[in-house]
Amino acid sequence: MMIERPRRLRRSAALRRLVAETRLNPAELVLPMFVKEGIDTPAEVSSMPGVYQHTLDSLRKAAHEAAEAGVGGLVLFGIPAEKDERGSAADDPNGIMQRALRDLSSDLGDAIVLMTDLCLDEYTSHGHCGLLTPSGEVDNDPTLERYASIAVAQAEAGSQVVAPSGMMDGQVRAIRAALDGAGHQDVPIMAYSAKYASAFYGPFRDAAECAPQFGDRAAYQQDPANARESLREVRLDLEEGADLVMVKPAGAYLDVLRQVKDLVDVPVAAYQVSGEYAMIEAAAARGWIDRERAIHESLVSIKRAGADLVLTYWATEVARSL
Ligand code: PBG
Repeated sequence: MMIERPRRLRRSAALRRLVAETRLNPAELVLPMFVKEGIDTPAEVSSMPGVYQHTLDSLRKAAHEAAEAGVGGLVLFGIPAEKDERGSAADDPNGIMQRALRDLSSDLGDAIVLMTDLCLDEYTSHGHCGLLTPSGEVDNDPTLERYASIAVAQAEAGSQVVAPSGMMDGQVRAIRAALDGAGHQDVPIMAYSAKYASAFYGPFRDAAECAPQFGDRAAYQQDPANARESLREVRLDLEEGADLVMVKPAGAYLDVLRQVKDLVDVPVAAYQVSGEYAMIEAAAARGWIDRERAIHESLVSIKRAGADLVLTYWATEVARSL
């Protein structure tokens, strides 16, 4: 009888490399970046060591470094100097996001894919992802009109992929119609389709200065208890015209990622969010975990579960290490 010896293929690093089922590749990594209006030096995010709120200049430099390292894409978040109820800065042609886009598209051309987060929470004084009703609920349909206008402003300024993250019903359809109507039929939509109301976004709210001033996002983001609901969200987004779909967060939702991957035939993105970053950095800073190995393992696991592309704050560093 043959004796099964799976360890034969694990004997050396060369053998393990030869038979690895999952590999990381710089081209499938996407770097989320923050640009803040009205600052003259980059500010490190206290809960995300190594991640900065950039000035327009430091953003250009960091974006260039990412492109040099072979990173596949950037996703930009803007932090305006002035916030108001309707998030007016979000679709202002001279708003911080649009200015950053014009700079980066002239610097980088097609060297890296320039994507934009499309939402209102960074721009509203109340910190919610949409417009509010008088009683303080997020008002779905009027919010869609704001998203449509933001999509057009971003596309005109040079966004090559818009990524709506607000979890309003019908947002992909509204954005697709607006882009098409403005002559931007070629700009794809990466939908944050399965986005959970997650505690792992905590550090991001420091980075993007967008913590809700009251309540939480549970009435529009998904309940962590639900996986099948994600499949419904993904199907709806595809019917509405999404070109790529995303699962977010990544690490705690690998089962969802796998189910989405098995359901669709478009590229699937996963967002390794701020809290996932912060946990590994914090444990590593105390010497409790091997930082590089933990980063690598977390990303390989996200790919193994089904992600075709991964948004990660470590994109440049990891791309350089591959
Ligand atoms: C909303 C948005 C959020 C993140 C990306 N887009 C915050 C939220 O939904 O509260 C979180 C990303 C992260 O935690 O890294 N514009």
